Amino acid sequence: MKLQKALKLTRDLFLPEAIDDPWLEAEVILMHTLEMRREELYLRWGEELPQDVMPSLMENIGQRLSHKPAVYIIQSREFFGIELWVDERVFIPRPESEILVSEALTFARGLHLPRIADVGTGSGALALALALNLPSSLIYAMDISASALQVARINAQRHGVGNIHFLQGDLLSPLPGAVDIILANLPYVGGEDFSALPPEVSLEPREALYGGEDGLGVISRMFSQIARPPQLMLVEIGMGQAGRARKIAQKYFPEAEIDLVCDLAGIERVVKIAC
Ligand SMILES: C[S@@+](CC[C@H](N)C(=O)[O-])C[C@H]1O[C@@H](n2cnc3c(N)ncnc32)[C@H](O)[C@@H]1O
Repeated sequence: MKLQKALKLTRDLFLPEAIDDPWLEAEVILMHTLEMRREELYLRWGEELPQDVMPSLMENIGQRLSHKPAVYIIQSREFFGIELWVDERVFIPRPESEILVSEALTFARGLHLPRIADVGTGSGALALALALNLPSSLIYAMDISASALQVARINAQRHGVGNIHFLQGDLLSPLPGAVDIILANLPYVGGEDFSALPPEVSLEPREALYGGEDGLGVISRMFSQIARPPQLMLVEIGMGQAGRARKIAQKYFPEAEIDLVCDLAGIERVVKIAC
C-alpha cells in the first residue's frame, strides 16, 4: 500500500468515530509512525508503506480510535515555540495559556531578577516558557502531583534550564518566600461541565481539570492562602467564569486593580490582579 492510501484509510477509520479534524489527525499519526515531517510525507506519498511499520501503525491508530489524544500518542506538544514532552501524567498545554506567559513576560521585563511562582505547573509549560525568555529570573514551579513534576523536570532537563525550582505541595504552601508574580492555570472545570467532557479530555488527569462543583474552588483556595499579595497575579479561568472570578478576586484583594484579558477567540480567559 502506498503512503497516500495509508493516509486516506486512516482518515476513513477516524471519520465515523467523531474524531475532530480526521485528516489532520491521520497525518499526525502517520508522520509519527514513519518519523517523517509533513513535507516529507507528501513528497514521498507515492512510495510503498514499509511492511515493518505496520504493527506500530495499527497500534497508534487503535489508540487514537479509543480516543487517546494524539498528543499522548506522539508524546510531544509545542507551547510558546517550545517543544515539550507530554504524556498521560500531565494536562496537555493549551494555546490560550500562552496569554499568561506573554502578560507575565511584559511585566517581568521591567523587574530586576524577577521571582515568579507557577502554581499547578503540570508539564512545566509556563515555567519553561518564562525561564527560557527570562534567564535571570528565579522560578518556582509547583504542583500537587509528583508524577506531573517528573514530566516538568524532564522538560527542564531537555531544554537545559537551571533557573526553575520544582516544589511539590498544595497550591502556595511549598513556596519558600515572597515572589513578584504568581501565575496559575489551576483546574477550573465545574461539576456539570466535567461530566460532559469530550472523551479525549476526560483521559487527562482528573486533578488537572476538576475545580470543584462551581469550578472556581481551587482558585479561591489559592487566593485565601495569600497573606501579602505579589505585584501581579495572572489566573486562567474558563468560558463564562469571568464575573464570578472577578468577584472572588475583589473579595480577597479589595485594593487591587482587577482586569480580564481575552483570548484570541474573544473569551475572557485570564484574571489579571495588580496589587
Ligand atoms: C490545568 S493543569 C495546568 C498545567 C500547566 N500549568 C499548563 O498550563 O499546561 C492544572 C495543574 O494543577 C495541578 N493542581 C491541581 N490541584 C492542585 C493543588 N491543590 N495544588 C497544586 N497543584 C494543583 C494539577 O496537578 C495540574 O498539573
